[in-house]
Amino acid sequence: MAAAQELAPYVVTEDAILKPLAGRRGDAARGQALIGERQRSLCILCHALPSGAAQLQGTLAPSLAGIGSRLSEGQIRLRLIDMKRLNPESIMPTYYALRDGFRVASAWQGKPVLGAAEIEHLVAYLVTLKE
Ligand code: HEC
Repeated sequence: MAAAQELAPYVVTEDAILKPLAGRRGDAARGQALIGERQRSLCILCHALPSGAAQLQGTLAPSLAGIGSRLSEGQIRLRLIDMKRLNPESIMPTYYALRDGFRVASAWQGKPVLGAAEIEHLVAYLVTLKE
């Protein structure tokens, strides 16, 4: 988990963040592994993925199957970094942005939930999920 001062700056363009955090693209295989880590990334508590055991597939959020066809890389990046920027009522955690007014578990106070490299691994994996 990265410390607050290690947060890489990013620029939001409409509903996307076009450039990779810290200027480094991620690794899709590592992103796939991380998405399956229920305790850390939490993604599958809410989302279904195109493959994987049925009991690990969340139903609180849209399925991520085909997400790489529906959204651009930059749009996916913004959603992982800060979904509440698009929907302040979203139950999806704000994974990277640090700003006032959103709730995080106390263990995560003052820290992004995932580091820049981890966000980029997830982006690299999600763009491969084509329909
Ligand atoms: C607590 C539930 C929850 C968790 C955990 C969660 N999400 Fe979400 N996510 C949502 C909801 C609900 C939406 C629908 C958008 C909204 O809330 O406005 C969403 C939307 C998205 C979208 C956009 C989907 C679309 O079709 O537009 C992506 C991409 C996404 N989530 C990826 C992830 C990834 C990757 C993780 C793990 C790092 C994750 N989410 C964790 C609830 C969650």
